Amino acid sequence: MLGKKEKQVPLDPQNIPRHIAIVMDGNGRWAQKRGLPRKAGHSAGSETFHKAATILAELGVEHLTVYAFSTENWKRPPDEVQEIMNLLERYLKKSVRELTENNIQLDFWGDLTPFSPKLRQLIAQTDEISKQCTGMHVHICLNYGGRDEILRGARALAQDCLAGKLLPEQIDEKALEARMDCRGAPAPDLLIRPGGELRISNFLLWECAYSEFYFTDTLWPDFDETELRRAVAAYQGRQRRFGGLK
Ligand code: IPE
Ligand code: IPE
Ligand code: MG
Repeated sequence: MLGKKEKQVPLDPQNIPRHIAIVMDGNGRWAQKRGLPRKAGHSAGSETFHKAATILAELGVEHLTVYAFSTENWKRPPDEVQEIMNLLERYLKKSVRELTENNIQLDFWGDLTPFSPKLRQLIAQTDEISKQCTGMHVHICLNYGGRDEILRGARALAQDCLAGKLLPEQIDEKALEARMDCRGAPAPDLLIRPGGELRISNFLLWECAYSEFYFTDTLWPDFDETELRRAVAAYQGRQRRFGGLK
């Protein structure tokens, strides 16, 4: 990582994305390239996440959403799933305090019900500690799927209709969003996918309607400050129209 800002990719401080979303992909290949087990890649990836959150908070980003475990990642070999769960526990025990000391607020998007009671307790504790913070919001997506998020929101709408709290004709985008994980957060301005794959893999399907996409072959554990600034610089070169005209 370059220490000196003057050597870094220049950025317009007036046009920093409010919300950046990242698919943290490429951990396994990063490890395999080094002859290491895949879990070493996940561990390196968690360190990269920690650094990226700190750098983006300093840049003035208001929301960072990271894809850490998808609703489809349960299909991996049980050993790998277990290693990811262990890593999550270790991360939440060890590193969360550091983020909250930097005033970063953490919360979790996704269906947390299948996780172990221990992990859920750590998640609840993290939520509690984070309440004191007022800085950048970091949303960690765990057992998250864009389709599942929309489904859970739709189910909550149906329940409120049944309970007489809402009429079907009152359902609009705002009503659905109020029942989704993303409630309260602006839509992502920039969605970054390292790791070389050119797909969305069920991430933020509702939220990314007008996000700018940035794909790169760099593997997530190698995604340092220079890479982050490159992605933001690319965003700053885009013209956003939201369906209108310039
Ligand atoms: C992303 O890295 C982390 C998770 C999906 C949990 P991968 O594990 O998908 O790494 P690659 O894509 O196999 O290199
Ligand atoms: C997306 O990466 C999920 C996360 C990074 C958590 P995957 O590695 O699971 O996606 P695919 O299988 O390449 O689409
Ligand atoms: Mg992958």
